[in-house]
Amino acid sequence: MLDGKNILLGITGGIAAYKSIFLTRELAKLGADVKVIITPDAEQFVTPVTLATLSGNPVLSSFVPEGAGGLWNNHVELGKWADLMVIAPLTANTLSKLASGQSNNLLVATYLSATCPVMVAPAMDLDMYAHPTTHENLDKLRHHGVEVLEAAEGSLASGLSGKGRMQEPEEIIEAIRHHLAPTEQLKDKRVLITAGPTHEPLDPVRFIGNRSSGKMGFAIAKQALRLGAEVTLVAGPVNAELDHPRLNRMDVKTAEEMMAAVAHCYGEQDILVFAAAVADYRPKDVSNQKIKKTPGDAPVIELVQNPDILKFVGQHKKPDQFLVGFALETDQEVQNARKKLDNKNLDMIVLNSLNDAGAGFEFDTNKVTFITSKDVVEIPLKSKDEVAVDIFRQILKLHAES
Ligand code: CTP
Repeated sequence: MLDGKNILLGITGGIAAYKSIFLTRELAKLGADVKVIITPDAEQFVTPVTLATLSGNPVLSSFVPEGAGGLWNNHVELGKWADLMVIAPLTANTLSKLASGQSNNLLVATYLSATCPVMVAPAMDLDMYAHPTTHENLDKLRHHGVEVLEAAEGSLASGLSGKGRMQEPEEIIEAIRHHLAPTEQLKDKRVLITAGPTHEPLDPVRFIGNRSSGKMGFAIAKQALRLGAEVTLVAGPVNAELDHPRLNRMDVKTAEEMMAAVAHCYGEQDILVFAAAVADYRPKDVSNQKIKKTPGDAPVIELVQNPDILKFVGQHKKPDQFLVGFALETDQEVQNARKKLDNKNLDMIVLNSLNDAGAGFEFDTNKVTFITSKDVVEIPLKSKDEVAVDIFRQILKLHAES
């Protein structure tokens, strides 16, 4: 399954390091070429001999290994060689070094110079994991595009019980496989996505709009393409780029244009995800000329309602179509999102809360809750790319259950 993939496995000094012996063995068994880097502290928990035997490669632990005649381990080359760097377990100490850009051992220097994707599996004791500093550091990594495999709950080395255990090797391997060899679970499926804001013109130079960057919608489109789907992306005015042979991109400016683009193709779609921040209202009159200021007078702009595109599609939805909406709420969030789920006849709604730090329009991260008629699933803060992965995981799971 991992034939020909180069995996750089970083092991840091925590008791969970013993599980990384199994991880090394399984990765090698699955055909990956595994190179292990350990921190000096990790050597107290696992021996280089074991890891070298199982990986079939020398274990790397210092910049200039003893007896190597001055030859040094090139951390830049290691990061270029790898298809994926996985740090498991990640201790609080190494986490803080990664978050603050330190480079005083081979592992953290390799992380800092790595150009490959990085995945980390933190493991630490209950209160260390719960500490706000740990959360801030993990959020920082997420913000930098690192995939964080949240610690699991269970009994801990201290005798306490709670969140802090490293994910089991099987879970980590599943995440690695998903990352490196995404299955084409959406092959032959058509997916429609709306993204970005709409701009509602007042005159030739002014408009009413919002701060949506389109990042979430584009991340969803990218993930649908990775999963093999034919994707139609109806995008409001955004700066985002996306190019793919299976992508049909339709650029629009206003809600009415977005409505027309969606109306044209929604019938032939299997999955529809409405991530656009559509303006609910537009100016009633649009001036052909730039509106001049009149001294001593402030104009009153009369607004009219825009079509609710998602509601329209919900009303005309076929039984085998899967419809997902987004909701941005500031109060009574779950309750309000549930109302939208019902009113718009959706299969799932993705709730964004403006109350969550790091979530929302201009961030690269998002914190969402998936709501269906049966379930409320809260997802921790993640990069928008990771949220997109979760959205399709959820859709595929619900599809399989229905
Ligand atoms: N939506 C749409 N067309 C509109 C308005 C919203 O397709 N004219 C979609 C959005 O893409 C999103 C969902 O509907 O998926 C958001 O629902 P909406 O009721 O518009 O949410 P809010 O704008 O947050 O509503 P309200 O202001 O009433 O809370």
